[in-house]
Amino acid sequence: MKRKYKTIKLSLATSCVALLMAGFSSCGKKDANSPGVEFMPDMYRSPSLEYYSVHTVDGDTINNAMKPASGSVARGYLPYAYPNTPEGYEKAGLNLHNPFNADLYRADFEKEGEILFSKFCIHCHGAAGAGDGKVSAKLPGPPPAYDGPLKNLPEGKIFHSITYGKGTMGSHASQLTQEERWKLVYYVQKLQGPKVAPTDSLKVVAPR
Ligand code: HEC
Repeated sequence: MKRKYKTIKLSLATSCVALLMAGFSSCGKKDANSPGVEFMPDMYRSPSLEYYSVHTVDGDTINNAMKPASGSVARGYLPYAYPNTPEGYEKAGLNLHNPFNADLYRADFEKEGEILFSKFCIHCHGAAGAGDGKVSAKLPGPPPAYDGPLKNLPEGKIFHSITYGKGTMGSHASQLTQEERWKLVYYVQKLQGPKVAPTDSLKVVAPR
């Protein structure tokens, strides 16, 4: 038993001396900036490719902060066919329709749209969409009421205006997915109430 302890002690002592020597020898290098022996190099210098940095792979130097390949579509987003122009606005009004079938989705979307409306729109448009939100007094012109001049605004134009913005209203495309914007369209339509035959007082709705 005693002997066994002795050998363990001896091997411990030898390894300590070896470590010390390794330590001293690294200090004695000519290059003062050399870190000496790195026991776990991977802990300091990751072998994996890092984001937004330049790498040399198989002799090619590449910057891996690259733009997506042209034509790629981000997950959850679909390309929007109507440009941000007066013609695009009119075309959206004529041809763009809610892809979420009213029979299946309207009831749920109205409820979810109301929640989104209370977060993103209510401060300008007011709870009933009358254009009397808290911020609207500070705008050069308050938003028109949904059940007033905007009563007959078609769904395509509602979506288009939420996407690109209109007048002092900014674009909401970066904050809201297309699905969320269609939810808002259903809610805005609820606030518009039933459509009415155009009268003189609703002429503002005519193409601008
Ligand atoms: C900064 C205040 C502000 C916010 C926030 C805002 N709006 Fe507006 N909105 C306006 C103003 C002002 C107009 C009138 C723009 C014009 O016709 O010049 C308007 C117009 C509209 C119209 C009519 C667009 C048309 O084609 O005539 C719709 C629909 C609308 N907003 C929906 C929304 C929805 C939905 C949200 C929330 C996602 C929202 N707005 C957020 C200020 C705002």
